[in-house]
Amino acid sequence: MAKKRVRVSPVTADRLVKGWTGPGRTHIRLARPGDTEQITGLLALADIPLDPAIDTVIKAGTVASTLLLGLNHGINDMLRPLAEAAAVGKPDDAMLGLVLVLVAEGRGGLLRGVLQAVPPSNVLADGVGGGVPLLNAVLGAAKIAKIRALAVAEDARSIGIGETLIRRSVRIYLQLGYFLVYGQFPIGSGLEKYYARQSFTVLDEGQHIDLSRLGLPIHIRTDPSEPERLFARWR
Ligand SMILES: CC(C)(COP(=O)(O)OP(=O)(O)OC[C@H]1O[C@@H](n2cnc3c(N)ncnc32)[C@H](O)[C@@H]1OP(=O)(O)O)[C@@H](O)C(=O)NCCC(=O)NCCS
Repeated sequence: MAKKRVRVSPVTADRLVKGWTGPGRTHIRLARPGDTEQITGLLALADIPLDPAIDTVIKAGTVASTLLLGLNHGINDMLRPLAEAAAVGKPDDAMLGLVLVLVAEGRGGLLRGVLQAVPPSNVLADGVGGGVPLLNAVLGAAKIAKIRALAVAEDARSIGIGETLIRRSVRIYLQLGYFLVYGQFPIGSGLEKYYARQSFTVLDEGQHIDLSRLGLPIHIRTDPSEPERLFARWR
């Protein structure tokens, strides 16, 4: 008998803003103005501060603005502001619109988890430094997302909030034509098992991600001063 295909409807901008039902009576949605204090508290569980520029876009209600454009109107519309920013030599301005901050909201507005994904800053810097034309480097950065932080409140763990935040984020980026979602974690944290379970390939210590298949002569490496391992999921 032929296998029944499960049809997954595409994510819309409206859905990302309004959110989905998550585990443990949570609601998974894009971060809103007013969330930043709780997000800062959750990120501290992963020892990561909230970047002031990201704090500002969340407060302004413009977080993920370029990703929302893509979900609403397609990939070409998402890339347009990036190409325009590259044309006027201000690529960094465009990068903030590619930041995704997803939260899991529990009862009474209490945030139970957060995932923050960002464009890889080194792709722009290393690419341009290595002779890649600015436009190509900017468009390349819009094909790669780094899971910068994932944190779940201690009393809300092991019910699938982390997994759901990852799954939703990966789906959004794949729908937007991304080729790679990656991240890194400290050696000794045990997280290799966690990320392998989330369908990522966990790289060995010292192994790096080669972006030549994206036409970029760049390698994503961990900082030797911080013993960490990379995990990656290619399209
Ligand atoms: C890692 C973290 C985000 C997982 O969130 P979560 O919502 O509890 O995760 P899920 O419910 O999807 O998965 C839970 C499973 O992951 C396992 N897990 C969680 N952290 C783990 C770790 N460091 N090493 C190995 N396994 C781990 C749990 O034991 C649990 O396994 P079980 O289902 O067999 O009981 C959460 O533990 C956390 O916030 N930790 C502190 C911050 C951190 O380390 N962040 C990741 C690096 S940035």
